[in-house]
Amino acid sequence: MAEDAVLGYLATHEEMLDSGQFASEHGLDHNEVVNVIKSLHGFRYIDAQDIKRETWVLTDEGKKYAAEGSPEVQLFLAVPPEGSISKDELQKNLDPSVFKIGCSQAGKNKWVEMGKQVSRKVQHVEDKVKNLLMRIQDGEALEKDDINSLKARKLIVPQTWKGYSVKKGPNYAPKRKKVATDLTRENLQRGDWKELEFKEYNFNAKGPPAEAGHLHPLLKVKDQLKNIFLQMGFEEMPTNNFVESSFWNFDALFQPQQHPARDSHDTFFLEVPSTTRQLPEDYVELVKRVHEDGGYGSRGYGYEWKREEANKNLLRTHTTAVSTRMLYALGKQPFAPKRYFSIDRVFRNEAVDRTHLAEFHQIEGLICDRGLTLGDLIGVLHDFFSRLGMSKLRFKPAYNPYTEPSMEIFSYHEGLGKWVEIGNSGMFRPEMLLPMGIPEDVRVIAWGLSLERPTMILYGISNIRDLFGHKVDLSLIKRNPICRIGIN
Ligand code: PHE
Repeated sequence: MAEDAVLGYLATHEEMLDSGQFASEHGLDHNEVVNVIKSLHGFRYIDAQDIKRETWVLTDEGKKYAAEGSPEVQLFLAVPPEGSISKDELQKNLDPSVFKIGCSQAGKNKWVEMGKQVSRKVQHVEDKVKNLLMRIQDGEALEKDDINSLKARKLIVPQTWKGYSVKKGPNYAPKRKKVATDLTRENLQRGDWKELEFKEYNFNAKGPPAEAGHLHPLLKVKDQLKNIFLQMGFEEMPTNNFVESSFWNFDALFQPQQHPARDSHDTFFLEVPSTTRQLPEDYVELVKRVHEDGGYGSRGYGYEWKREEANKNLLRTHTTAVSTRMLYALGKQPFAPKRYFSIDRVFRNEAVDRTHLAEFHQIEGLICDRGLTLGDLIGVLHDFFSRLGMSKLRFKPAYNPYTEPSMEIFSYHEGLGKWVEIGNSGMFRPEMLLPMGIPEDVRVIAWGLSLERPTMILYGISNIRDLFGHKVDLSLIKRNPICRIGIN
C-alpha cells in the first residue's frame, strides 16, 4: 500500500526528495502516491513541498514513430540494399505521410540518392529519432539539441510535471493511527475507551443538505403577509371557492352589466355548470333596483338589469367577491366593526407575458366601522405597507365601479429609483353597502394587491413564469433561501 510505503520510507530516511522517483522505484502509481501524500499532509503526519518539473511528452505522431520507427528509417529500409527502386514504386509501398517526411529527412541525412530512381548511399543507418523518443517515453532527460530537433518536428510537447518532496510532520508515526469516531457499548464493556483516541469534531464541516420539502416563495411571502394581517387584528376570510357567480363577482359590487371587465376577454366563464343554482332573492331584487334606478342618494345606471347575466358562473376575477359575501353576511346581523383579509387565487383571461399570468394571487384587506374616513384608509395603508418595508407611499385618484373615492397606491422603489404601483384601494360605495343592510354611518375601507409582485421583487425574479405556472423552475424553488420582507 502506498501509504505504508511513504510512512515506512520516512522512518528510515530524512526526506523523500521526489515523489515521482519514489513511485517508480517502488513500482507505485504516482497519482496514488500523490493522493496519499495529500491526505497524510492534511493530518500533519508529513510535511510536503510542491515540486514542479518541465518534462516532455510524445505527441500522437511521436508515439507512432516510437513504436514503428521514424519515417526516414522506414523509407531507407524500403529501398533495396543493392540497385534502386523507382520513386513511384517506393511511394506505393509506403504510407503517404511516411513517404513525404521520409524523403525529405533521408535526403537531408544523405542516406539515399533521390531522383526518378531511388538508391541507398550508405549501407547501414541508425534510428536516432526512434531511440530518442523511446528515451523520453522512459522519462529520461535529453540533451538540449535533441529536444529542440524533436520539438521542431512536433514529435514532443512540454508538460509540467507536479510532485512533492516530503519530510516527517509533527504528527509523524510509521502507521496512521485509527481514531475512534464513536464510543460503542463494546468500548465501555471492554474498558478500552480509556486508551481510545477520538477523532476531533470538525465544526466547520457542512452537514448534508436536509432531505426536506421546500416551500414555494409565494407560500413563504403569503405566510408573512398573513402574520402582518393577524398582528394588525384582521380575521381571514374563507376564500376556498374559485367558482363564483357573476352576481357576487360583479353585480353586488355595483359593476354595471356592460362593464368591459365582464367581457369574456377578461373573465373565464364556466361552461358546466354555466349558471348559479341560487341567489338570495330579496337582495338580488335590491341590487337590480340600484343598478336600474339607483336609490340611497344615487341615480343608478339607468339600464335594464338582466338576471341571466348575474346567474353566469365564472372563475372569480378578484377576491373582492369574497369580501362582498362577507359584508352581505355582516349586514344581516347587528352591526359590529370588523377587519378582514384574504390571500388567494384569482383568474383573468389575459395574454400571458413576463409580468402577467391568467391566474395569480390577490391580497385583500378591508375594515368596516362607523365613521371611517379616507384619512383612516391612508393611515392604515401606511401602517400595512411600512410593515412590508415600504414606507414611502403616494396615492393617485383612480376609478373602481365599487369604490368612491378610489386610490391607486404607489411606493418608492429604492432599487429602481422610481415610484411603482403596488395596489388599489378605496371606500366601498353606498350603492353597494346599503342594499346589504349595512348601517348608513358605517364605512368600509379596502385595498388589494397582487402577491406575485412583492414576491418577485423579494426573490429577484423578473419573469413571472419562472415563479408560478407550469414552467416553474423547480431548482430555483429549492435553492431559494427564506427571504424576509424588510421592516423599516
Ligand atoms: N378588487 C380590486 C382589484 O381587483 C382591488 C381592490 C380591492 C380595490 C378593494 C379597492 C378595494 O384590483
